[in-house]
Amino acid sequence: MKEQRVQRQAIRGHVLSVASECVPLLKTGGLADVVGALPGALAARCWDMRVLMPAYRGLAAQLDGAEEVWTGKALFGGPAMVLKGRVDEMEVMLLSAPHLYDRDGGPYGKAGADYPDNAERFAALSWVAAEIARDGLGDGWRPDILHAHDWQGGLAPAYLRYGPPTKVKSVVTIHNIAFQGLAPAAKLAALKLPAGEFTSKGLEYYGQISALKAGLVTADAITTVSPTYAEELMRPEFGMGLQGVIAARAARVRGILNGVDTAGWDPAADSAAVPYDAARMAGKAENRKRLIAEFGLGDVPGPLAIVVSRLTGQKGVDLIPEVLEDFVALGGGLVVLGTGDAALEAAMRAAAERFPGRVGVKIGYDEALSHRMFAGADAVLVPSRFEPCGLTQMYGLRYGTIPVVAATGGLADTVITASPMAVATGAATGIAFHPTDALALGQALRRLCQLHANPETWAGLQGAAMRQPVGWESSSAAYAALYAELLA
Ligand code: ADP
Ligand code: GLC
Repeated sequence: MKEQRVQRQAIRGHVLSVASECVPLLKTGGLADVVGALPGALAARCWDMRVLMPAYRGLAAQLDGAEEVWTGKALFGGPAMVLKGRVDEMEVMLLSAPHLYDRDGGPYGKAGADYPDNAERFAALSWVAAEIARDGLGDGWRPDILHAHDWQGGLAPAYLRYGPPTKVKSVVTIHNIAFQGLAPAAKLAALKLPAGEFTSKGLEYYGQISALKAGLVTADAITTVSPTYAEELMRPEFGMGLQGVIAARAARVRGILNGVDTAGWDPAADSAAVPYDAARMAGKAENRKRLIAEFGLGDVPGPLAIVVSRLTGQKGVDLIPEVLEDFVALGGGLVVLGTGDAALEAAMRAAAERFPGRVGVKIGYDEALSHRMFAGADAVLVPSRFEPCGLTQMYGLRYGTIPVVAATGGLADTVITASPMAVATGAATGIAFHPTDALALGQALRRLCQLHANPETWAGLQGAAMRQPVGWESSSAAYAALYAELLA
């Protein structure tokens, strides 16, 4: 009792985080990891954060101790309520609105096509978040800050701003500017948006409504998930049309690097593999053998590389087949795990057929296999064309699985490239190449083979990689500092 009171006194503020996905309930990409990790990381800094996400089919049943904390009679065409409960160690709030979320498909669409009412589905989520921010919940909880993620939460700061004045501050975080939540102007009224805000300074984007832009122009602060991406976003090559909007608010833009879950990604305690650490690398050698056997590969005398990724244009994986012949000739091997665009899936399968014994591919999403891959491989390839942060290069660092990355966004911020000087001083943790094209990727793989061929150099790289901090410590401090500034 006493301890609880002390904790409550120490709380610096309450934050409502609103997003379309969250680990452990639902994940299609890194967004879910980050949204799921922030409440724990911030609790350690005395910020009380609750996550609100949609109750997609089957999710409400996973809540322990579910309690109704908000009710809405007619939310965008049907009844709705917010359930608060626990899943694993985490407290979450689910917006149950069966007409919007109880569907037999994915969170965003079915059979490769987006749901036609996605604008309404995520406007509803944002609307409820703004209502909660303004009026609090049935259990007495009231946020001081509304923190929205990506376009699906983008309208939340906007609804807050367009309503009666409030002391609640808002933050919008860009995880990926490629998705902007565009909707036809004809939906303005249906989305409860004031017609007067449909201007180029407001939420209008080339004649359409943009949920992300609405958030960017109304939030008190804008963050993105790495310092380099924050700078890149203000340039036409990366801003995807929103560079001017972001540059105009540069003073309010901050890049805060993601962390990874260092308990879930720990080579010394990973149930999917033989444990190892920087001082005892024998386990990694055994994991390598097992991975080679699992994919039916033969002898791989050079570095064994992996790719664990969505297979989309962003990730640059289409460049890999172009450089494989050289890499394989130098002794390299490759194992790919991913799903996505049909053409890229086919290109990966074709690569495996072209280089039997050296290239293995599994099309699918498989968390446990991804752990076995990081534990067993020598290197992880992330040749992204743009990468707001990226998590897999950080798993690579932690597992002594050397990241070979395009020098963009969070990849540039997390990998210290193996220049001769960085190798000589023991600082190097990976290879970063630029630009994202087959020539530069091919050169990076050649460098990888050279480094791998020298056992002393290689051990130095692995040691430095495994010592690099990739947890949430400094990032949670940065979010806490931002929240404190907003409330000051
Ligand atoms: P993005 O969110 O752009 O896809 P990130 O690197 O931030 O990229 O996060 C991707 C997350 O999804 C990582 O946790 C990665 O391990 C995981 N992941 C991606 N594809 C797969 C897959 N096919 N199987 C297992 N995990 C995957
Ligand atoms: C997005 C980005 C990725 C980032 C993730 C979490 O999915 O593509 O780079 O790591 O969000 O912030």
